[in-house]
Amino acid sequence: AYRIVVLASGTGSLFQSLIDAVADGTLEVQIAGLVTDRGEAQALQRAATAGIPTAVVPLAKGADRDEWNRALCRAVEEFAPDLVVSAGFMRIVGPAFLQRFGGAMINTHPSLLPSFPGAHAVRDALAHGVRVSGATIFWVDEGVDTGRIIDQAAVPVQTDDTADSLHERIKTIERQILIDTVGRLAEEENHEQRPV
Ligand code: GAR
Repeated sequence: AYRIVVLASGTGSLFQSLIDAVADGTLEVQIAGLVTDRGEAQALQRAATAGIPTAVVPLAKGADRDEWNRALCRAVEEFAPDLVVSAGFMRIVGPAFLQRFGGAMINTHPSLLPSFPGAHAVRDALAHGVRVSGATIFWVDEGVDTGRIIDQAAVPVQTDDTADSLHERIKTIERQILIDTVGRLAEEENHEQRPV
């Protein structure tokens, strides 16, 4: 089976959508592991409930970033993924990680990139007064939310939106394009491996 490892830092509702899509047969992949930088991430409970193995790789204040990248790399490698899926992972991975997983790692971001990169995309989009926002799935490269775009979907911004209400609307379509993208990449890999 096509193996994915999910990276998540918080609530993990996108991670949960992947779990649910696998459970109901919409998505034919194996979620080989969840890796997080936060020991209190709700994503860990979701993994436990679904019987998915986990690893926690915290980034301590003042810690050596390269060292953390190497530790993260080792943790992900343990699960032997075909694809790394960053879904609400709030850290930037560096060269030590990308040397190994560059080209095999996607991220999902709550804006229509290249608008509003960074950790506060929804708040920034709202502050700018955009009338349309959305979600973007892209290949992770060395930059911050700069990688080649795989898929996007848009939602309207309503005049009474708060960052929370807009983010919830974005997440409803973000779930869908994330599941679609992972499914499509898994399918492409299967076709490549099928003997002719
Ligand atoms: C998602 O909207 C994801 O795009 C965003 O965090 C949310 C995670 O939600 N990621 C970023 O902002 C990365 N810069 P979740 O924890 O409920 O899955």
